[in-house]
Amino acid sequence: MNLDRVDAYLDAHRNEFEEQLKALIRIPSVSAQPAHNPDTRRAAEFVRDDLASMGLRAELIETKGHPIVYAESLNAPGQPTLLIYGHYDVQPPEPLEPWLSPPFEPTIRDGNLYARGATDDKGQMFTHVKAAEAWLKGAGALPINVKFLIEGEEEVGGANLELYVAENKDKLKCDYAVISDTSQFAPGIPAITYGLKGLAYFELRVQGADRDLHSGTYGGAVQNPLNALSVILESIKGPDGKIRIAGFYDDVRKLETWEREEFAKLPFSEAEFQADLKVNALFGEEGYTTLERKWARPTYDINGLWGGYAGPGPKTVLPCKAGAKFSFRLVPNQDHKKVGTLLRKHIAAVCPPGVTWELEEMHGAPAVLVEVKGRPAVEAAVKAIEAGFGRPPVFMREGGSIPVVGLIKTQLGVDTLLLGWGQNDDNLHGPNEKFNLADFHRGIKASAHLMAEMAKAK
Ligand code: BES
Ligand code: MN
Ligand code: MN
Repeated sequence: MNLDRVDAYLDAHRNEFEEQLKALIRIPSVSAQPAHNPDTRRAAEFVRDDLASMGLRAELIETKGHPIVYAESLNAPGQPTLLIYGHYDVQPPEPLEPWLSPPFEPTIRDGNLYARGATDDKGQMFTHVKAAEAWLKGAGALPINVKFLIEGEEEVGGANLELYVAENKDKLKCDYAVISDTSQFAPGIPAITYGLKGLAYFELRVQGADRDLHSGTYGGAVQNPLNALSVILESIKGPDGKIRIAGFYDDVRKLETWEREEFAKLPFSEAEFQADLKVNALFGEEGYTTLERKWARPTYDINGLWGGYAGPGPKTVLPCKAGAKFSFRLVPNQDHKKVGTLLRKHIAAVCPPGVTWELEEMHGAPAVLVEVKGRPAVEAAVKAIEAGFGRPPVFMREGGSIPVVGLIKTQLGVDTLLLGWGQNDDNLHGPNEKFNLADFHRGIKASAHLMAEMAKAK
């Protein structure tokens, strides 16, 4: 059978696949940093050329920002069409000091490949590219139709992909989508993710006097914007971990009993989770377990805070400006725009007198929940993961966000299989990002078998 030829091709090309992944990772495609724009384009060209070299029709699509890579193979009439999404852009590597090896010099330690983008998302995205190659070069043809959509602005929340998808619904028409940009449940426990959180991200700027003041001469007589900002930020969440914005929970989908039971069955130890993080206690919303908090309850976190003096030694300043970046991770069926409206009302009500404020809505993404019960594509993915990883997946949710999943659903009308090959401790977005090379090869095999299973499923 052809699948044997595919498996044989995978076995014979392990080294080559790793070397190609390293070459892609060496290109510092940091989408947020304009100095890297030529590199970001080079990464797109690398992916396009690789897809073209195995016989797909591949192109670079120009946008107002970074280009999109699109490639297709539609030579399997009567078979389903799978849309494969990934991103070739990466987060900035900074801070550089904690990296044990340079972020763009992929280095293997303990079977892990360390580099920026190793897991998020170059390594994971590449598994599908190599699976397609194994079919085309090992077996002569793909068993299904595939469309690759690999973007370069995922990490900056660019609006260009949204535009492209909205304007190319026919071209992107498909029966199902697959994304590998999440994690397994734990080492040795592969997973299918059926829920993602949404996001509402804000910047708040508070202004007091028109200049910095002496905190002795003026202190106590005028409002301090940093104090005022602290009051606002503190008012958003109570000591019980509940968000105190009126109406915030109105649309929150309740955790159902069956789901809480399923979460509780997963092999997760709160004690080990705490010990790994070296914190003296876990903290979260009262009445929920850690997995429930991480996966299915909305959260509020301050992401950055500035104002006044934070250099060496004391400075008795009463600053005139303060600011913060903070965000809410949302769950179904919350709407990030509505959260913005409620937040505005809340700030207006709690902001102390004597300062003015400005709120900027920076990012928004909807939460995702996909139906997995009784779906042939999900059953195909279960079998594919068994083939690649040697055991069936567990079903889990995830606290991160992948905005394109909502887009695929609303614009193309299809659900997405979230087949993550990463691990929770892969340090994505942080120093020493890594991707396990055994998982890389297992992921390629799972993807190759997914293509076969989807052909059967039809
Ligand atoms: N690959 C991540 C999403 C992710 C994060 C999956 C954590 C699994 C665990 C993706 O590249 C990402 O960083 N998403 C952003 C989205 C945001 C910029 C809209 C996120 O979740 O912060
Ligand atoms: Mn990603
Ligand atoms: Mn990311």
